[in-house]
Amino acid sequence: MTSYRGAPPPEDPPAPALEVRDVHAYYGNSHVLQGVDLEVARGEAVTLLGRNGAGKTTTISAIVGFIRPRRGRVRVLGRDVTGCAPHVIARAGIALVPQGRRVFGDLTVRENLTLTARSGGGWDLARVLELFPGLARRLDSLGDQLSGGEQQMLAIGRALMRDPEVLLLDEPSEGLAPKLVDEIREALLRLRESGLSLLLVEQNLALATAVGQRIYVMNKGTVVFSGTPAALAAEPDVESRYLGI
Ligand SMILES: Nc1ncnc2c1ncn2[C@@H]1O[C@H](COP(=O)(O)OP(=O)(O)OP(=O)(O)O)[C@@H](O)[C@H]1O
Ligand SMILES: [Mg+2]
Repeated sequence: MTSYRGAPPPEDPPAPALEVRDVHAYYGNSHVLQGVDLEVARGEAVTLLGRNGAGKTTTISAIVGFIRPRRGRVRVLGRDVTGCAPHVIARAGIALVPQGRRVFGDLTVRENLTLTARSGGGWDLARVLELFPGLARRLDSLGDQLSGGEQQMLAIGRALMRDPEVLLLDEPSEGLAPKLVDEIREALLRLRESGLSLLLVEQNLALATAVGQRIYVMNKGTVVFSGTPAALAAEPDVESRYLGI
């Protein structure tokens, strides 16, 4: 056998955590997503910004399998999940914190956290309560009895209990007072530091740029800007045209 000399052979870079390529989607005849491209690298935090109706939630729905793209591909950790059922896509490593939180109002906080949990991963009740200590006092309260901020923390905790590789959050700051938005921001920064891949949908520019290492701006079903927070700040035109700032 000859011994190996010189540089080792190049290895393929790991597949991104999430890849969305040229995705088109419709509601009836309405062509809502018109070729969406975006990517989240492993361990990266990415924000998707855009006005009301830009297509952010529809993009999320196409990723998690609530709607089926008519064209294009969705890959999770390199695995093609385009058109798969939501539970299959969840098992591939995606968890969603949906817009409007959608906690189970007639279940307790503990039940909300544990009923859909996946065992064996890095997340358990103790770790969620460490991230959101406020939930510890509320474990036996019903979802309906919580404040908006507590419900948001519960929705994030519930998604983490599914032990995802990629966490999608659809406007977690919506309707929350500034102090609670700060709390959500700190939690998301801790999750980012833990190496979890994040796709954060937001309209709150401050939260978006604090958490996102890269930003996509969406308008009318397509991505119109992609770059760092600094690059976005250098384009006041993009902010005024697509974000109403
Ligand atoms: N279930 C639906 N049936 C038909 N049209 C829909 C449906 N949901 C959304 N739309 C339309 O699709 C477009 C994109 O909506 P989408 O909910 O993806 O926007 P968004 O960026 O998430 O907005 P917001 O910030 O208000 O949540 C809008 O024109 C909306 O009216
Ligand atoms: Mg939305």
